[in-house]
Amino acid sequence: MATPTTITTLAALREAEAACTRCPLFRKATQVVPGEGKTKARLMLVGEQPGNDEDLTGRPFVGPAGRVLDRALEEAGIDRAEAFVTNAVKHFKFEPRGKRRLHQRPDAYEIERCRWWLDLEREIVKPALVVALGATAARSLFGRTVTVSGLRGEVRTLADGGRVLVTIHPSFLLRIEDERAKAAEFGRLVEDLKVGARFLKRAA
Ligand code: URA
Repeated sequence: MATPTTITTLAALREAEAACTRCPLFRKATQVVPGEGKTKARLMLVGEQPGNDEDLTGRPFVGPAGRVLDRALEEAGIDRAEAFVTNAVKHFKFEPRGKRRLHQRPDAYEIERCRWWLDLEREIVKPALVVALGATAARSLFGRTVTVSGLRGEVRTLADGGRVLVTIHPSFLLRIEDERAKAAEFGRLVEDLKVGARFLKRAA
């Protein structure tokens, strides 16, 4: 396994990630899903882990949660093409159920083992702001369990000086059945992202 000091580009990082055996999740997943986007993106978006579509395509946030994220980014005036999009955990964790593969939450060990890659992504990209989409991303970045509702909507500073904005994971919206409640939560997600957009403008 390469050491952090020998990985200084996203291409080298992708190659190293593809050979990752740091936790057992690589055994069942189709492939690793590395982060993607501009090398020097000022904004990094961190999700939980790849879902079924991401596992099959090898790209982050291309399935239903990705479509919610894309809509929210657009409403917040953020261009996804200018950002670096990644996940706290790089392999899909699932439970087979007939022909379907049901998402399973990564556990503390898997998040911790995969933080190695997220740290390297942050080191290479050096974003001015990281948006943690949901509790798993926030846990990875803060290095401890945090409550999204207690932290969301405000830019925070990590122990290493990195700036982080916590908000909900877009898949939360997919689970809300009531249309009014769903629209209200979508609006809150957009408002959180706007806080990030304003922060980036001021930091420019
Ligand atoms: N959910 C995530 O957290 N990441 C993805 O890439 C897709 C769905």
